[in-house]
Amino acid sequence: MPIIHRHIATLQAALKPVRNQQRIALVPTMGNLHDGHLELVKLAKQHADIVVVSIFVNPTQFGVGEDFDSYPRTLDEDVAKLASVGADYVFAPSSVEMYPVLPPPTTIRAGAITTQLCGQSRPTHFDGVGIVVSKLFNIVQPDVAIFGQKDYQQLAIIKQLVRDLSYPIDIVAAPIVRAADGLALSSRNQYLSADERQIAPILQQELQRLAQQLAAGEHIDKGFNTLITDASERITVAGFKIDYLEIKTAQLEPVIDRLANDGENKKYTAQELIIVVAAWLGRARLLDNQLVTVY
Ligand code: PAJ
Repeated sequence: MPIIHRHIATLQAALKPVRNQQRIALVPTMGNLHDGHLELVKLAKQHADIVVVSIFVNPTQFGVGEDFDSYPRTLDEDVAKLASVGADYVFAPSSVEMYPVLPPPTTIRAGAITTQLCGQSRPTHFDGVGIVVSKLFNIVQPDVAIFGQKDYQQLAIIKQLVRDLSYPIDIVAAPIVRAADGLALSSRNQYLSADERQIAPILQQELQRLAQQLAAGEHIDKGFNTLITDASERITVAGFKIDYLEIKTAQLEPVIDRLANDGENKKYTAQELIIVVAAWLGRARLLDNQLVTVY
């Protein structure tokens, strides 16, 4: 069984003697663990000798009226699952342990990358992610930290944070883990009714269709916007309320239509793009994304 620490000081005391001989990995989570989280732990074990999993429903990343109070808290089940994949330590602090003053007067602002996509409807979310992840990095001081590609924007922000604040930590990205029908696993999927759960995989199917259209070069004739509009319509008809559906470069920069900048320049190099979506289905806000190489 992993050893559970509720306090910063005891976790640090446990890690201190091993720090110089062994590599330490951190897997930050908010608990209510599913197979997606467990894959992160398995990946962490490939990159380090000791794996610390943090479980903390972080109040600063929830906006007013969001699901902070109802977010599922299942520590006992989580610890049992973590035992099955060989995690060494669980760090499960109280809110006051993490935030002696809440909200903390010190803030982390990650700039323009946080105001697009999820940041449009959740304007304070990534500031909260930034401060809690910074604190976890300082508390655990891992050699490596694992984040899922499911939260693609979050991953990009963490990479920026590590670069800008000179954290000596390798960031490893873990692929999206999906249910057999393609729905990306998420703790929030349990907000779906049985009927909604049947509809939910359509989101990923539409992302795949869009990715195939891009890989086949359909955007060259039609433009990105037409493909997005068509996909949005299909997703909406299926019963989702789209928050955003966008095509970006893999670095989350805007894509420019060839229609607009074609001119004489007919030589294009391969480019990695990402299709990112957030859509409500009933009470659940589902996130997904798909990388695709286009020419
Ligand atoms: P949480 O939603 O619990 O996710 C913890 C980690 O698991 C994140 O890195 C997330 O991208 C990854 N993850 C979740 N579902 C996944 C899936 N289906 N496939 C692959 N990886 C998946 O993300 C957070 O918590 C918080 O914002 C946190 C980083 C812990 C800061 O509070």
